[in-house]
Amino acid sequence: MFCITFVCLGNICRSPMAEAVFSRLVEERGVAQSFKVNSFATSDCEEGNAVYPPVQKVLRENGYNFSHRAKKITLSDVKNADYILVMDGMNYADLTRMTGGGYAEKILKLGDFLPVKSDIDDPWYTRDFNRTYREIDVACRAFLNFLLDKHSQAFDYDKRH
Ligand code: 4NP
Repeated sequence: MFCITFVCLGNICRSPMAEAVFSRLVEERGVAQSFKVNSFATSDCEEGNAVYPPVQKVLRENGYNFSHRAKKITLSDVKNADYILVMDGMNYADLTRMTGGGYAEKILKLGDFLPVKSDIDDPWYTRDFNRTYREIDVACRAFLNFLLDKHSQAFDYDKRH
C-alpha cells in the first residue's frame, strides 16, 4: 500500500483537486487497492473549510463527485506518507521547515512531472481554475506512470490499461 499525500497552502484548491484526480486515475488503472490518497494544507488559514466553489465546479464539470474539508498537515501525516507532492516552492520550503529538513527523499514537486517543469500555479491568485486542472491532470498521469514503473513488482495490474 502506497500512501500518496498532496499538499498546498490552503487545501481548498490545488491539493484537493490533485487528490480527486489521482484517486480517479488509480481507479482507472485498476490499482486503487494499492493506494491511500489524501491531501493537506501547510497552513491553518482554511482549516475545516470545504473545497473552494470554483474548484468544485471544475471537478463537477469533469465528472468528479468529490468533497473534502481543509486540514493542516501534521508530522504524523508526513511520516505516514510514502510520497508527498507539493504544488510550489513555497509549499516545499514550508514543509521542509516544519520537518526540520527530514523526509526530504519523499517530498516531490508535482510540477516536476509536467513536460516543462514548473510550479502548479495557485488559482486562488491566477483565477484560471481550468488551467490548474489541466496541469494537475497531466502531472498526476506522469507521476502515476513513474510510480508504476519504479515499483512495478508491487502492482498486480493489467499493463494494457
Ligand atoms: P490552495 O489555494 O493553496 O491551492 O488551496 C489557496 C487557498 C486559500 C488561500 C491561499 C491559497 N488563502 O490565502 O486563504
